[in-house]
Amino acid sequence: MVCLGNICRSPMAHGLLQHKVEKLGLAWEVDSAGTGNWHVGELPDKRAMATMKAKGIDISYQNARQIKNSDLDKYDVIYVMDISNLANVQRLATNPQQLQKITLMMNEVPNAELKEVPDPYFGTDNSGFEQVYKMLDAATDKVIEKYK
Ligand code: 4NP
Repeated sequence: MVCLGNICRSPMAHGLLQHKVEKLGLAWEVDSAGTGNWHVGELPDKRAMATMKAKGIDISYQNARQIKNSDLDKYDVIYVMDISNLANVQRLATNPQQLQKITLMMNEVPNAELKEVPDPYFGTDNSGFEQVYKMLDAATDKVIEKYK
């Protein structure tokens, strides 16, 4: 799960998918990272943690990190939150095998209203995080259905 800062959208996607994977007892490795390095080592944004906690999912175990080329070998699927993330991760790829793993998260949801998960970081309240939660809840359901 990849976004820009790895403190808002991708930690929520990571937490949601991890939660569902554990509930189903699937042996999947889930992780997240940012394309940028500004927040490396930080906890998720307080608003992201609060939104998730209200749904019964703890993401306080996560620490932000920056995506690296070897992630594109280690993981089978690389989900990016928006088109800017897509371009940045594609630029990091060094072979066609890596490139073909990279896809927009919302591509998993047929007829999704928005194909990009909007960045909630600069919003003044929690409503952006609620919207992100709803979108990622739907998308991670589809990921489970597809690969379980
Ligand atoms: P994220 O949100 O990419 O969903 O983690 C952001 C977090 C931080 C910044 C931008 C987006 N920032 O500019 O610091």
